This record gives sequence, structure tokens and C-alpha cells, in this order.
Amino acid sequence: MEYVKLNNGVEMPMLGFGVYQIPAEDTKRCVLEAVSVGYRSIDTAQAYANEAEVGEAVRICGIPREELFLTTKIWISNGGYDKARASIDESLRRLKTDYIDLMLIHQPFNDYYGTYRAMEEACRSGKIRAIGVSNFMPDRFIDIAGFVETVPAVNQLEVHVFQQQKKAREILGKYGTRIMAWSPLAQGKNNLFTNEDLTAVGEKYGKTAAQVNLRFLIQSGVAVIPKSTHIERMEENFDLFDFTLTDDEMKKLEALDLGHSQFIDHYAPEVAEMFVNAGKAHMV
Ligand SMILES: NC(=O)c1ccc[n+]([C@@H]2O[C@H](COP(=O)([O-])OP(=O)(O)OC[C@H]3O[C@@H](n4cnc5c(N)ncnc54)[C@H](OP(=O)(O)O)[C@@H]3O)[C@@H](O)[C@H]2O)c1
Repeated sequence: MEYVKLNNGVEMPMLGFGVYQIPAEDTKRCVLEAVSVGYRSIDTAQAYANEAEVGEAVRICGIPREELFLTTKIWISNGGYDKARASIDESLRRLKTDYIDLMLIHQPFNDYYGTYRAMEEACRSGKIRAIGVSNFMPDRFIDIAGFVETVPAVNQLEVHVFQQQKKAREILGKYGTRIMAWSPLAQGKNNLFTNEDLTAVGEKYGKTAAQVNLRFLIQSGVAVIPKSTHIERMEENFDLFDFTLTDDEMKKLEALDLGHSQFIDHYAPEVAEMFVNAGKAHMV
């Protein structure tokens, strides 16, 4: 496993396991399988409704807590200082742990300055080791980074070969903020798993398109958290550290960038309305 040192000195695995859209009843099994494969970083969120099951797997997996890296995210409905503060304690309770390794603001909506202050306070009191944001595009990111005491350690963004976030990477680099890639496999969109350039590069190393895509991200300095409910895919997505892409291969894959999301446009007013409505409706 490769690790990266965050801007506050905390070490974060470059590869983790995401549990978005894993139903609560399957989450314990999936996390236990992921840990047995070797994953030591798990990414969940209040909004995924499976923190408790992640916590249960962590409790019984047999790996010392300090060898695991747990990330969770504060949902929009818990925005603002008081609600965020209470929701951090609730996440700790559900995750059955004394501390969260990385806590993120899930979306840049509601009173995210209040949310951030609650996270900073929890960081000072030892309930959280590192704090950051998610889905803060460069404009929102510059705003929050400019007016808080603790520069975000991480910004979790959609990143894969088709959406490489080149501008965001340039901006975040100035702040020493790391990118963690959500949907690092693009959920297979744009035929990622059969893409001919990824497949051609993979043939040289005996690797799949998925593995080449994930390796490309890690070599670009982006941490990844692929999700799968199948243990053989968990193994495939974990098997990334015995090959290195050449500079020419990295350049070839950089050219696959389409420069836009495969899922969502965070600048679109209708998307903002969707998140505001979701934040009001989805209380967690
Ligand atoms: N911050 C945010 O707003 C945000 C948004 C989205 C995601 N995330 C985080 O990022 C994590 C990963 O993103 P994601 O779950 O959206 O998508 P993803 O990891 O890009 O892709 C997961 C999908 O690909 C399939 N898959 C996985 N490995 C495969 C392989 N080697 N070959 C073929 N198919 C494969 C999975 O199917 P099976 O499960 O059936 O194997 C699943 O349908 C999430 O779980 C979550 O923790 C965060």
C-alpha cells in the first residue's frame, strides 16, 4: 500500500474502498471482504445509510483500529455549527469508534462554514484526525480555503480518466490539498472497462482497463476509493502496486480527458436546486 502525507501530517492510504450504494444489509460482508483483501481505508457518508454496518465490520474485522483509515461525510441536512456538531457525535456512535480519520463536508450547500467550524473543533478535541470537503469545485474551494483556520486536507471529487480535473488539481496544489477520487471507475460509464487505450496499455502488464485507470490516478497523485460488491473485483482493484506506467503511457492516458463530469454539473442551477431539495428531504 502507498500512503500520502496530508497537509496536517496525517498519513492516508492512496487506495481505499467506497461503500456508496451498497445496501446496509450487504455492507458488513463487503467491508469484511475488502479488509480481508487488504484494504485499510473505507469511505462512507451519513447519507449512505450504512455507517453503522461499516462500524460493525471495523469492530469485528480483527485489524487494529489504528491500522484502518475511516472517512465519512456530513450531509447537507446536518449543515450549520449545531447540527454538524451533533452529527459528528452521531457518526462516531454509528461507526463505533472514538475517532474518524477524515471527515468531509459532502456537498457545498447549506451553512458549510458553520459545518466546517464544528469539524475544526472536533479535530482539536481529537474526535477527527483530518478534515476536508467534497464536491467543492475550484470557485467554492477557494472561497472556503480562504476563510477558515484549517486549510482542507482533502477535496473528494469525481476523477477518472475521462474527468481528470486538471484545473482543480492545479488550484488545490497551491493549497497543499489532496484529491481523493470519487467514482474512480466512472461506474463504468463511457465504456471505461472496455476502453481500447486502457486495454492496450494493460496488455503489456497483464492488467485490466480498470486497473490501468486506477494506476493512472494513483501515479497522478490522486487517492482512489473504488467500490465493488464482488470480492474478485475488490481483488482486481487492489492489485495496482506491482507495475508502473511509463511517461509515454501517462501522456497517452492524459489525452482521454473529456474535461467534464460523467454524472453531474456542479455549476448548473438545476443541480443546486436538486441538492437543496435533497438536503431538506433527506434528513440523516
Ligand atoms: N463524495 C461524493 O459525492 C461521492 C460520489 C460518488 C461516490 N463517492 C465515493 O466513491 C466511491 C466509489 O464510487 P462509485 O461507487 O460511485 O463508483 P466506482 O467505484 O467508479 O464504480 C463502481 C461500479 O463499478 C463496478 N465495478 C467495480 N470494480 C469493477 C471492475 N474491476 N470491473 C468491472 N466492474 C467493476 C461496481 O459493480 P459491483 O459493485 O457490482 O462489483 C459498481 O457498479 C463510492 O462508493 C463512494 O464511497 C463519493
